[in-house]
Amino acid sequence: MNRSQHIESKIRELIDHMSIDEKVGQLTLITSAEGQIPDSLREDIIAGRIGGILNETQREVIHELQRIATEESRLGIPLLVGRDVIHGFKTIFPIPLGQAATWNPTLIEQAARISAQEAASTGINWTFAPMMDIARDPRWGRIAESLGEDPYLTGVLAAAMIRGFQGTDLSAPDSIAACAKHFAGYGASESGRDYNTTNIPENELRNVYLPPFKAAVNAGVASVMTSFSDIDGVPATANEKLLRHILRDEWQYDGLVVSDWDAIYQLIEHGLCANSKEAAYEAANAGVDMEMFSQTYREHLPEWVAEGKLSMAQIDALVANVLRMKFRLGLFDQPYTRAEDFPPVANASFRQAAYQTALESIVLLKNENHVLPLSKTELPTLAVMGPLADDGYEQLGTWIFDGDTALSQTPLQALRAAMNGENSLRYARVMETTRQNTREGFAGAIQLAKQSEKILLFLGEESILSGEAHCRADIRLPGNQEELIHELAKLGKPLIVVIMAGRPLALQNVIDKIDALLMAWHPGTMAGTAIADLLLGNAAPSGKLPVTFPRVTGQIPIYYNQKNTGRPATPETYIHIDEIERGAPQVSLGNTSYHFDVHYTPLFPFGFGLSYTQFEYRHLQVNPSEIKLGESITIRANIRNTGEREAAEIVQLYVRDLVGNVTRPVKELKGFQKIRLQPGEQTTVTFNLSTDELAFYNRNMVRVTEPGDFHVWIGSSSATGLRGEFAIIP
Ligand code: GLC
Repeated sequence: MNRSQHIESKIRELIDHMSIDEKVGQLTLITSAEGQIPDSLREDIIAGRIGGILNETQREVIHELQRIATEESRLGIPLLVGRDVIHGFKTIFPIPLGQAATWNPTLIEQAARISAQEAASTGINWTFAPMMDIARDPRWGRIAESLGEDPYLTGVLAAAMIRGFQGTDLSAPDSIAACAKHFAGYGASESGRDYNTTNIPENELRNVYLPPFKAAVNAGVASVMTSFSDIDGVPATANEKLLRHILRDEWQYDGLVVSDWDAIYQLIEHGLCANSKEAAYEAANAGVDMEMFSQTYREHLPEWVAEGKLSMAQIDALVANVLRMKFRLGLFDQPYTRAEDFPPVANASFRQAAYQTALESIVLLKNENHVLPLSKTELPTLAVMGPLADDGYEQLGTWIFDGDTALSQTPLQALRAAMNGENSLRYARVMETTRQNTREGFAGAIQLAKQSEKILLFLGEESILSGEAHCRADIRLPGNQEELIHELAKLGKPLIVVIMAGRPLALQNVIDKIDALLMAWHPGTMAGTAIADLLLGNAAPSGKLPVTFPRVTGQIPIYYNQKNTGRPATPETYIHIDEIERGAPQVSLGNTSYHFDVHYTPLFPFGFGLSYTQFEYRHLQVNPSEIKLGESITIRANIRNTGEREAAEIVQLYVRDLVGNVTRPVKELKGFQKIRLQPGEQTTVTFNLSTDELAFYNRNMVRVTEPGDFHVWIGSSSATGLRGEFAIIP
């Protein structure tokens, strides 16, 4: 027998020996007592009433829990030990949205690999990551955990994270099971309010929200987590179409499906179920294998089986999925972790990886008159200010349960180090938190700025303002940070702003006051050195936006791969509210898709990011110009570094399917390559595109590629590029 067949026979053999209570025990995932093992927990494990535990991180405690499970219970089934290792464990990497801005799958895989090693060294064997919800609404706090708005980029980067977490051998001591979440469509929560209703037509679900999960399944993700959200009236955690018909039948997925925290019990709150017994039935029948936190399965599944409403075969199928992950993790062979199998946490190479990821995650959004990079000689006359210039905790971002703030390198520390540690760097925090609305620190800030040549401001959102349940109805800079910018701008000195935030911010009110702007997201442990190296030109910014920046909150949702509508806004038809003549006839006002009071384009588009050099795109070639279904096409362009500095550029490939059985987006990312060029150097970037990569779900929910005309672009963002054309002929 091969390993897979061996595992299946072991599963069968084990299930044949299990009582109904032991079976339901495997479907139960409880939260830990965080460092304690109360008698009730010990007894539950010995009785086989628990299949896994989350939020325990102490090695000794995890070891004892595994010992009880494997040496004191009747069947000796080891435990799953889960934790949200979202963007690091002790060494904290940029938040996932920041990692996405690197457009660097290799770097992201390395970050996940390091995170897995640090977490696995404690006995954790399962992470609830990557989150791959397509996020088009930056009011939603969890956009911070996402990989942005694009299905293709999200799929590529999520697969890289999965490879990093799971390694090449899931049973290796330093591999942990990954978890594709939240299945599915959570990012479409109405009004960007977390846990809110999502109304996603199946065609949109299949063409936008599901592709990253399919990429995760293709990458071998060990588990999938159901979303809290209600999808068209049936919450994901009870959605048989999603969990059985698509995930199991269409995709042939054989991993573990776990509910989100208490999500089965919340089916009552949703109004889908009248009580916990019904909730247990709906979730089990839909195909949720393991129940996180709530205990409706333990309480009610034996009843359902006794009443014949659920068959023992159905229960066995759920149990098999849990056991299969445990076998694949090698837990039956080796449930224990030996610290000596692992490198020290937060070692120099791990911190270097965190630095490189932070460096490549930061996006240069504006640089008027090349005010950046600064030279070291300017540091003594630079005014460094803001609540996020020297806050080792806030720079870590959301979901950093186990991060070690003591490891943090802040921008102020790094800039001081660049001055050989002299403390003469002019600095003022100005405000205690990013939320405060007092002008207390303004006078001091203005005074310091008056004595300085240039102003460097670290602003944005403290970490609590992003992440789960942390949604904002107004995504401008919080507190009175805008006011601070306006006050300092009056001094007429170059104003450089570094924003740390867990989302795009609406910067319309201040962008014209800012000379240079770096978007640093929440860059993690090594924020300081990464930001300082970019500010001082030791490296050039290379990040590109994985998500659109709206001008104002009211533009949301605004994203690049939108449909064209029957009346797209154009420069010719757009009329600003100030241009409306008094008494203008109603019919002449544009009559296309835009808001009167703000331009219809975003402030910064998906894929955008500047550098300290310039790249010239020339000579687009599309070959051949016609292909048949099943064939491929080659698109290439020449890119030259026309500036004075070596730098990296993320070259992007977009297509547009002009006519489809359903309306198609005006652009879709289909490839990207990161190149590095010396000044004056040029290279040809080539993309090969198969007709299958142009497939989409049509109005009958059939995945098709249709003959027809296409536009194709190679460019430096979703808003620019050299355009070519090709056709797929019957
Ligand atoms: C949370 C989140 C989920 C997380 C889980 C365990 O509510 O929705 O992403 O993995 O609970 O912490």
